[in-house]
Order: sequence, then C-alpha cells, then structure tokens
Amino acid sequence: MATIFICDDELEILRYLDKLLQASGYEVETFSRGTDLLMRLGSADGMPCDVLLQDVRMPDLDGLQMLDQLCKRWPDIPVIIMTAHGTIDDAINAIKLGAYDYITKPFPKEKLLGMLERLLDHRRLAKENKLLREGMQRGNGSSDAIVFRSKAFRDVYDLTLQVAESDANILIMGESGTGKELIAGALHRNSPRRDKPFVSLNCAALSDTLLESQLFGHVRGAFTGAVMNQKGLLEEADGGTMFLDEIGDVSPAVQAKLLRVTQEKDFIVLGSTRTRKVDVRFVAATNKDLMHEIREGRFREDLYYRLNVISINLPPLRERRDDIEPLARHFLSASTRRMKKEVRGIDDDAMQSLIQYDWPGNVRELENVMERAVILARDGVITTALLPLGARREPLPPPSGATPQLPLDQIERQHITAILKESGFHKSRAAEILGISRKTLDRKIVEYNLTLKEGM
Ligand SMILES: Nc1ncnc2c1ncn2[C@@H]1O[C@H](COP(=O)(O)OP(=O)(O)OP(=O)(O)O)[C@@H](O)[C@H]1O
Ligand SMILES: [Mg+2]
Repeated sequence: MATIFICDDELEILRYLDKLLQASGYEVETFSRGTDLLMRLGSADGMPCDVLLQDVRMPDLDGLQMLDQLCKRWPDIPVIIMTAHGTIDDAINAIKLGAYDYITKPFPKEKLLGMLERLLDHRRLAKENKLLREGMQRGNGSSDAIVFRSKAFRDVYDLTLQVAESDANILIMGESGTGKELIAGALHRNSPRRDKPFVSLNCAALSDTLLESQLFGHVRGAFTGAVMNQKGLLEEADGGTMFLDEIGDVSPAVQAKLLRVTQEKDFIVLGSTRTRKVDVRFVAATNKDLMHEIREGRFREDLYYRLNVISINLPPLRERRDDIEPLARHFLSASTRRMKKEVRGIDDDAMQSLIQYDWPGNVRELENVMERAVILARDGVITTALLPLGARREPLPPPSGATPQLPLDQIERQHITAILKESGFHKSRAAEILGISRKTLDRKIVEYNLTLKEGM
C-alpha cells in the first residue's frame, strides 16, 4: 500500500484529503507545518512515503524554498504541489525546482486520484525496468532479477546491497522458498569479491563424511571410497564467497570444524595433517530458528555468532502481499517466453485469488503455480480455474487399478514427486507428510535428481 504525506496549513483541506485518500486505500500522514514535515522526513529511515502532496504557500516556511530542500535531500520522493487558482507562476517554478506535478485548488477528487494512480504506476514500472536491466547486466538474462514492490522487501534489498560491500559473514533466515539463495547470490555479485568464485553447498543433502570431504577435500585413502585426492569447495571458493545452504542441518561434529575455519581461516584436508589457509566470506542460510536450535543443544552458539555477524531476515510472502502481483507477472512472462506461449495476462479474479492466498511455499510456490497455469492456459489469459490454490491440501485419491509392476525405488521416487507437487514444493510440509526429516527429503531429492518445479 502506498503512503502519502500531505502538508497544508488549512486544517479543513488536510482533513478532507486525509479522508479521501484513506478511503481510496492509501496510508496517509498529515502535517500542518512545513517544519513538522521536515522533521518527520529527517528522522525516518529510508523513504517514509511514496508521494508528498504539498501546498505551495506555507505560513512557517516559504513553500518553494521548502520544495527546493525536499528535492535535494529526498530526490526519490515525488512531490505534487497544490497551488491556488490563478498562481500559475508558482506551479511553473515548482516544476522547475523538481516537483513531479502540480494541481490547482480547488480540484475534483477524481483528478487527484487519477494523478496519484498514474504516478505510482509509472514509478513501479520504472523500478521494475531498472531491476530487469540490473538482471540483464549481470549477464544471466532476467532469471536472476529480484522482483518486489513491498516496503518490507525493499528494506531487505537495501540492507543486502549495503552489507554486500563489507566482508562480514552473513546469515540469511527465512521460510522455505522466500528467496534466500537469490539474496545470497546478490550479496556476492555486489561485493568486492564479485570476480572470484561463488561456491554453493547444500549442507542438508549430504551425510557427514560427504559434507566434510566436499568442504575440506580429501587425500587418497582418507576414507573408504576416497580413491584419489580431491580439492575441497573451500579451496575452490578462495578469494570469493562460500554459501552454506541449510546450515541448521549441519551435525555438531561438522559445526566444530566449520567454527575453526571461520575463526582461524584455515582447515585440514581429510586424511592429511597439513593445514591450508583460505580467504572466504561465508554466507549461510537456514529456515530453522537457530536460537531455538541453540537452546535445544543442536547448534553451537559460538558458530552462530561467527556466521551471524549480520543477519538478513526474509519475510514470508503472505506478510508482503504487495509483491505478489509483480512476482506473478514476472513469472508469467518468464514462463511464456520459455514455453513460447501466447499468454496475455492474468484476469482480475485470478489476481485477487493470488493476492489473497497464503503461500505456505512462498515465492517458489508462486513460481510453480504460474508455470503450471501457463502450461494449462488455452485461451491466452490466466483465470482462477487454472490456479489450484488451496485445493492441493486434499488427501491423495486412493490408488486404483492393478498394482504397478515397479521396483521399490521407482515407487518411492514417484511418491515423493507427487507429495512435493501437492505441497506446492514446500519441502518442510512434504517431509512432514512423508514422515521423514527435512534432511532425508533433501538427500532423496538429490539422489533421485528431482527438480523442485512443476512438470518434473
Ligand atoms: N524476489 C524474487 N524475485 C524473483 N524471483 C524470486 C524472488 N524470490 C524468490 N524467487 C524465486 O523463487 C524460487 C525460490 O527462491 P530461493 O531458492 O532463493 O528460496 P530459498 O529461500 O532458498 O528456498 P529453500 O528454503 O526452499 O531453499 C527461485 O526460483 C527464485 O528464483
Ligand atoms: Mg534455498
């Protein structure tokens, strides 16, 4: 929801605009003095409003001087100036100083509402285009583009860019599918280490021995099956970023070894006695509540503080519903492009359902829902009928017909695939239904080479 600040010394007008804009779905804050407004803006973090409506004549400050200050200090806040009838010079001067537009009092409410709507739309598009361009500059097409509109996610993104430049270890927390890996990539690409490797390891999918040998490497004969020397991922990541995904699933034994790397910046290759120096920045991610894991004795507090120099919390999608629409459109166009289909858009009902749904599987679930809808769409528009929202909680139909003549592992693969789909690719929920741990599920996903996508 967009926030609008209004500054006018006529209380009557303030009250009228306050009511009008709130009724139209905006958040509103009113100020009767220019100094109050400047104080409010000055003490806010980031951008506290999306639009500022300002009367050009203020008793305590010269309106145009104030506008000049506003445009210099907060160039990202568009200002609409309200002028009195017959003072066109004020309006022209205001535009020259950097006001976005002006409106002459008295005005019909439709005029103001239309102006606000266009302005906000325009800015949203400009922002999306900017993000798309950023995505393309990275050379990976738009697949890496980070799409959002909500204030909550903008704060996360701003923090990401801000902390990317430091060398501090970072812990990314958030529910499954909220974009933790995406943010990890953005941290690396925006860091001074961007020209060095970004190495990613899913800690949950591997047994202890494999995890250690992946991380630290091993020499021949270090353990059964180690038939030749293998370089560890930490060495591969030297100079760059090491992304430890699902850090909450690492065993205490491996945690101890990780602690050493984070403290001493060196490690021992499995089966050897030599220590090796590395220079890596750690970014770790988890969907577990690590404080809870610490209290339960499953996660080392010292390692937690080593990794969590700065933490980034990704809010679940249901707490930033403003992002649903741009994300849905983004995934729609990505899918139509990939599948070379002519899907024109999403109808209003369908968009409403998308916005109202609770998204337990977060952005990944939305991505899958859109992809599925594009596959099923015939007449070129996405309708509610193409969205299986909520329906997938129903129990599986009982098996029918003859027993399939399949080996056990095939049955297991098919069953896991089906449950993953029905849970909207929400891994924790799928694991719960299957009665196995999230870690086991991750391992099976790797083992059976399952992709977390519709159509797998
Ligand atoms: N803001 C966003 N803009 C565009 N795509 C997004 C955004 N957030 C997430 N995605 C997409 O959603 C999917 C899930 O994101 P990601 O893998 O980063 O989540 P995750 O938090 O690591 O999930 P998990 O806990 O299940 O590993 C990915 O395909 C990612 O590209
Ligand atoms: Mg992930």
